Amino acid sequence: MARIVCVANQKGGVGKTTTAVNLSVGLAKAGRQTLLVDLDPQCNATTAFGKPSAERHPLVLRQPLRESLLRTNTKGLALLPGSRTFQDVNTLEEGEADAIRSHLSGGVNAYDFVLIDCPPSLGRLTEAALTASTEVLMPIQCEYFAMEGLTQMIQVIRRVMQEETNCLEFGGILLTMYDHNLELTREVDAEVRDFFGQLVFDTVIPRDVTVSEAPSHGLSAIDYAPRSKGTRAYIELCMEVLERE
Ligand SMILES: Nc1ncnc2c1ncn2[C@@H]1O[C@H](COP(=O)(O)OP(=O)(O)OP(=O)(O)O)[C@@H](O)[C@H]1O
Ligand SMILES: [Mg+2]
Repeated sequence: MARIVCVANQKGGVGKTTTAVNLSVGLAKAGRQTLLVDLDPQCNATTAFGKPSAERHPLVLRQPLRESLLRTNTKGLALLPGSRTFQDVNTLEEGEADAIRSHLSGGVNAYDFVLIDCPPSLGRLTEAALTASTEVLMPIQCEYFAMEGLTQMIQVIRRVMQEETNCLEFGGILLTMYDHNLELTREVDAEVRDFFGQLVFDTVIPRDVTVSEAPSHGLSAIDYAPRSKGTRAYIELCMEVLERE
């Protein structure tokens, strides 16, 4: 069965898309059949691969998933592009929260991993993604107010976990934009590990300018700067994710 990893945090700009993109590339390079689903109307995960967004979100079209998939330059990695149309997001939000789950379940059996890049909100879209997932990976930026709003997020996760048909688990907490030299980073690290314990990945993602440059070249950081410290960290994260199998 595919591991469906929902990359979520209602806070904006914490590294969700960067993590979804690089983790999916890394897992595909490790030989795992991987699908990256862009669920954010900003479509950052889609443009990060230099791909066009879809006119309508493939998950609201009633056609087989495979007809909407785009190939990426990484062998073994397919992309389900995002769509900017507000209307589609609305369709999902009003209608079936189950739409994503049922549509995904029709097409994910071919994959070892499905990663879902969520928008920065706790709306029905994120909730639907959580419902469709087997685990949630939450990036936390090492910044002031890093933990702010997390209680709300955790409440939603708990609620989804309690649904009878659900198999969602905590996949892990990831510290991003880590700066070893900053007192603040060390404080956030201590606070997050104190609160979440074993759930926090040993791997931390350092702040690295090549990581932020990569998307403008239509590449993951792993392909754009293979020797960078950001790449090394994301490869390490892949190994930790694989170890948690
Ligand atoms: N490790 C890093 N080092 C330096 N810059 C980074 C790093 N990770 C992410 N960034 C940059 O920080 C910004 C936010 O990252 P990203 O888009 O991944 O966050 P997000 O949580 O997906 O944002 P949103 O909530 O808007 O979807 C981007 O410009 C990205 O390139
Ligand atoms: Mg994003």
